[in-house]
Amino acid sequence: MTFKVTPWEVTGKIDYDKLRRDFGAKLIDKELKNRIKKNAGGLHHFLSRDFFFSHRDFNLILKDYEKNKGFFLYTGRAPGGDMTIAHLIPFIFTKWLQKTFDVNLYIQIPDEEKFLHKQNLSWETVQEKTREDLKHIASLGFNQDKTFLFQNSEYIKNMYPMLMKTAKKITNSTMKAVFGFKDSTNIGMSFYPAIQMVPTFFEKKRCVIPCAIDQDNYWRPQRDIAEKLGFYKTATIHSKFLPPLTGVEGKMSASKSETAIYLSDNEDVVKKKVMKYAFSGGQPTLEEHRKKGGNPDIDVAFQWLYILFELDDKKIEKIREEYKLGKMLTGELKTILINKINNFLKEHSKRKDKADKIVDKLKYSGKLAKEMWNKTI
Ligand code: TYM
Repeated sequence: MTFKVTPWEVTGKIDYDKLRRDFGAKLIDKELKNRIKKNAGGLHHFLSRDFFFSHRDFNLILKDYEKNKGFFLYTGRAPGGDMTIAHLIPFIFTKWLQKTFDVNLYIQIPDEEKFLHKQNLSWETVQEKTREDLKHIASLGFNQDKTFLFQNSEYIKNMYPMLMKTAKKITNSTMKAVFGFKDSTNIGMSFYPAIQMVPTFFEKKRCVIPCAIDQDNYWRPQRDIAEKLGFYKTATIHSKFLPPLTGVEGKMSASKSETAIYLSDNEDVVKKKVMKYAFSGGQPTLEEHRKKGGNPDIDVAFQWLYILFELDDKKIEKIREEYKLGKMLTGELKTILINKINNFLKEHSKRKDKADKIVDKLKYSGKLAKEMWNKTI
């Protein structure tokens, strides 16, 4: 069984335990969950259901919090394609962490990253897409005085000194080993990782990055150089991937439309995609299904409900049982999911359409944003 996880490609049936061990990260075990619960007063379902499953130094983040030293949050999104429901996951979790621990949050919008990576994507297209992404993110409801949302092409001047200090410490051989860059890779790509590392140096406190595990490559070299630059090694908290509609292998990917629900999909499209593509763990005939029951572990509709859309533990367990026993049919399960997605997207779109002002506040005029524009990193 082979699988592959890089910042640009996720394929195959992922063995998350092996991946975590290969990357040298730690499991979020019971003890850590209890400690988070104690400090947070509860656990987000992403943690109780083991969707965020791996970490580096999150125990030290809690230690710093318990000792009143504080910490800060950092995450990001690279514009280029259309945003999917999967892209919201780290932001939803980050919002919970920010609210729970009342800390500063930096959101990087690298408007060069996908441009450098994708041959046919123009700079102008990325710029057009960026505003939409900013609105999707801003509408999620972050603390407006403690969040700074910045686009690299605008904020680069303030980051420049730290960027140079970072870049000077990283060799080509490290970049080749970590990212698999080749001689034919453009030099923008091999330089870009330094830009994604710099926000971990925005404060002289410990930084923690919520993201899917595909971003881990960026944090390993950061951890090699951080202390030499007088900063902390960044902490991270990793999620698994929301699976594609088409089956539980790989990840939902914005560049493969049959695998994804976009934030801009309308009710009809959602219904059609789920009915047509959602991989089913049900049996081929009604009779067989009633007799043998379905398999929720491979059923994408069930998995999406479990990961993202059915937050009530009792309800999701009831669905699991009924599906396993053959009382619930694939069509019924899909209908539950379609309604949940459409309600979610309806509410999200309403907030997003009104988010222009929030984007401007998070970028330029909130308390933290103003401080950051007056600062050279
Ligand atoms: P991007 O724009 O590809 O993805 C944005 C965030 O979404 C996560 N993600 C997923 N999470 C769950 N299930 C999936 N199927 C899925 N697909 C994507 C990604 O892990 C990411 O957290 N290089 C980054 C942009 C970036 C960044 C950062 C990300 C810049 N600074 C700091 C995290 C932290 C990128 O291309 O993300």
